[in-house]
Amino acid sequence: MRIPVIAGNWKMNLDRTAAVALARAVLAALPPGSAEGVEVGIAPPYPYLEAVRGVLRGSAIWVGGQDLSPEPYGAFTGDVSAPMLTDVGCSHVIVGHSERRQRGESSELVGRKVAAAIAARLAPVLCVGETLAQRESGKTAAVVLEQLDSGLRGITAGEGAHLLVAYEPVWAIGTGRNATPAQAGEVHALLRDRLAKLWSRAVAESVRILYGGSVKPENAGELLAVPDIDGALVGGASLVAGSFLKIIAACPQRAR
Ligand code: 13P
Repeated sequence: MRIPVIAGNWKMNLDRTAAVALARAVLAALPPGSAEGVEVGIAPPYPYLEAVRGVLRGSAIWVGGQDLSPEPYGAFTGDVSAPMLTDVGCSHVIVGHSERRQRGESSELVGRKVAAAIAARLAPVLCVGETLAQRESGKTAAVVLEQLDSGLRGITAGEGAHLLVAYEPVWAIGTGRNATPAQAGEVHALLRDRLAKLWSRAVAESVRILYGGSVKPENAGELLAVPDIDGALVGGASLVAGSFLKIIAACPQRAR
């Protein structure tokens, strides 16, 4: 049984006041015990991590970073390390988001970041996804599998136990054009098969694979109903408490 995860990636949005207000609104609508059967997480911008964590402390809602350095400390101006994220209360970190890959982050670097997260006991949310040109030229499988393989190079099944994977087709991010349930389901099954080959079928069956890309209240139900889609990584719709909460409510386990 995989518990679905609905995670909000706030990206580079909001200010401190709005971030705190949004976290409070989500928390107020999800009192302890109310979201049983769904795991909820939020990834705010670095400067607001501590404030958001302060609001959510004691709740089941996890807080994560949006990126991390592959190095633990040192002369890396502007970077933030895994131990720093854990120090301010993060349990998760997004790694290899396409908005970073598109600006030069290689699969090799993503792999080093995953290893750094695991070494600090942070659960990585490893993002993979193809561009529209790659999909249209039939390269989707090759692209996402290369990103998965490189991202998990050297990671053992035991180390990968808390891993989350997010399939986020680049053409669906922020465009309003989500992948269809069939398109996403096909890639999720492919990723899970690869995890089974890499580790074992049992481990692969325990890893949550989230879908991301224009998830909104209107399409969340049909996407989350796909057996291999174990949750959503939500961008734009996570910036409004009402729509984020509707996506949480669309999880099949909650609707039951
Ligand atoms: P949107 O939900 O805004 O398309 O963003 C998805 C995303 O990139 C989440 O990481």
